[in-house]
Amino acid sequence: MTKPDLLMTGPMMQMIQDQLAQRFTVHKLWLAEDKEAMLRQLAPSVSAIASGSHMPCDPALMGRFPGLKIVSSFGVGYDHVDAAWAGKNGIVVTNTPDVLNEEVADTALGLLLCTVRQFPQTDRYLRAGKWLEKPYPLTGTLRDRKVGILGLGRIGKAIAKRLEAFGVPVVYHGRTEQKDVAYRYYPSLVDMAKDVNVLLIVAPGGASTHRIVNAEVLKALGSDGIVINVGRGSVVDEPALIEALKAKTILSAGLDVFEDEPRVPAELIGMDHVVLFPHVGSASVHTRNAMAQLVVDNLVSFADGKGPRTPVAETPWPTVA
Ligand code: NAP
Ligand code: 8YV
Repeated sequence: MTKPDLLMTGPMMQMIQDQLAQRFTVHKLWLAEDKEAMLRQLAPSVSAIASGSHMPCDPALMGRFPGLKIVSSFGVGYDHVDAAWAGKNGIVVTNTPDVLNEEVADTALGLLLCTVRQFPQTDRYLRAGKWLEKPYPLTGTLRDRKVGILGLGRIGKAIAKRLEAFGVPVVYHGRTEQKDVAYRYYPSLVDMAKDVNVLLIVAPGGASTHRIVNAEVLKALGSDGIVINVGRGSVVDEPALIEALKAKTILSAGLDVFEDEPRVPAELIGMDHVVLFPHVGSASVHTRNAMAQLVVDNLVSFADGKGPRTPVAETPWPTVA
């Protein structure tokens, strides 16, 4: 039996490549000497795309394949895939939700603690031999903090649960109030920022969240305020954040995500009072394996006629006419 043609747009974990090769003829776009020629040659036959989480999968790409039926994307965030266009064109998009909730929530708490208690700085201090001279200065604490979560979704709720265990009050902002949670809801992001001293961002990227954490929000957060971002870099107006950190409009920031990854502004790298992680929220072997398996399972289940395992909201399954 001939295997269906699948386009892999960029390098993916070896276990994805190995498993997909058993069921599909996998075409690795990034290895093609002449990518345009490969795309042209595959245009009539590709029915599936496997997409890494930062490789754009836009109408210009998807539109080249009239027989395309499914895009299986690595990662829960899929702002790099034009899912609305896919939905209108009968293409299902899948992502990797839930299997990473606990890992990313752990990372968020780690980043928050690192930022408040300056743990990376204390490590640098010891290695520089400065402890021999005098103890590290006393730091801030989580004890007087109130956290406003921007995006109380699957991961946001796992973060809130951890914060509750730490005895830290939680409130949230999103597009809609959630009736099944006890945390106070703020319809306005600025109003929430005024009432908290940690703004913890775990909202998706895309047009509706683009730079919604702007100079006004940062001013409202105030001079004792801390921004933690494990959502997407695009949610924050990065130049405004840098300005606020320089001017001490806010106290500090802990960032796992940036506007133009893996490039991080030199101004941020030069600041000692911020903590910067290279987008490692889900990056444990355990969790990345689970995400990889879901990428494969979606494609295999779909090819078997059993439908996708985890379609995104814009492409519900079964297809809505
Ligand atoms: P989710 O369950 O869909 O939750 C997203 C939350 O964001 C929802 O509560 C949603 O609430 C809110 N939201 C969406 N659009 C909004 C808007 N325009 N304004 C305000 N709130 C908005 O997603 P999840 O699984 O928790 O993942 C969240 C995001 O985390 C992903 O999309 C990804 O960008 C990021 N992430 C990062 C890492 C990392 O390694 N750092 C790892 C995994 C995920 P409403 O619909 O009520 O507005
Ligand atoms: C991805 C993420 O693994 O799931 C997401 O949305 O941001 C991470 O978990 C990462 O983007 C892969 O590079």
